[in-house]
Amino acid sequence: MKIVFLGAGNLAFHLSLALQNAGHDIVQVYSRTLKSANELANKLNSKATNNVSQITENTDLYIIAVSDDAIQPVIDKLNITNKNIVHTAGSIPMDILQSANNYGVFYPLQTFSKNSTLDFAEIPICVESNNETFKKTLLDLAKQISGSVWYISSEERIYLHLAAVFVCNFVNHLYSLTEELIGDKNIDFKILHPLIKETVNKAVAISPKLAQTGPALRNDKKTIEKHTNLLISRPDLGKIYQMISDSIQTFHNSEK
Ligand SMILES: NC(=O)c1ccc[n+]([C@@H]2O[C@H](COP(=O)([O-])OP(=O)(O)OC[C@H]3O[C@@H](n4cnc5c(N)ncnc54)[C@H](OP(=O)(O)O)[C@@H]3O)[C@@H](O)[C@H]2O)c1
Repeated sequence: MKIVFLGAGNLAFHLSLALQNAGHDIVQVYSRTLKSANELANKLNSKATNNVSQITENTDLYIIAVSDDAIQPVIDKLNITNKNIVHTAGSIPMDILQSANNYGVFYPLQTFSKNSTLDFAEIPICVESNNETFKKTLLDLAKQISGSVWYISSEERIYLHLAAVFVCNFVNHLYSLTEELIGDKNIDFKILHPLIKETVNKAVAISPKLAQTGPALRNDKKTIEKHTNLLISRPDLGKIYQMISDSIQTFHNSEK
């Protein structure tokens, strides 16, 4: 299949390479800047443009992988009426593309960074489409690169995206804050790697609820007070500590 990528960021980087490895021809890469478009196009041995009017008509599928807020402006500039087109955003309804003939969503549920290696075969791909024929095309395409393919509506997908923000973006932000906090005390974040890994392993192997430990769950008031005092100079972290401790106690219904 001939494919054009609109967007050359983290997601486009991984998805385009996975599709190329599955035998598809990435004929062109568009990005806002020629630098980004060239960077990805060179990897794919493809052509680059930063001009929407130069996007080729000679393709079977357009994959929009620009930032969420840029999707509508890109659609407005591209005449999508007779095109087969998908976007890759978790939080944007499929109908944003409704002026096309065949349209849908191709949302890989994973966190993508250009400099990290991923096995696409394990990444869930959430597909949605406006008709049965295009649904089959998208499901077939997804199954060529992943062993975990799902048909998910826009209403369901927004909840999956919200879930992804909690389990990935928020948790990772806590890692970043922690790295900074202990870095200030000259403690290497690496010492926490086994704890991070075991926390993830337990959440997946048993359940997050059963895996919970810690002072908030045990209602160890003196320990909580000591931690709170350590965070006096960091009211931003103190607020998060208090809020999450309260949430753990409410959720597990323990007495304060
Ligand atoms: N990264 C993930 O983990 C992930 C996972 C699942 C789904 N997605 C979805 O994939 C899409 C792309 O995300 P990403 O993480 O790959 O983003 P990203 O790395 O920030 O890349 C964004 C791309 O959009 C282009 N862009 C930004 N603003 C634009 C504008 N106003 N007009 C035209 N192009 C513009 C950028 O162009 P320049 O670089 O040339 O400025 C770049 O090519 C989003 O819809 C996102 O929700 C991402």
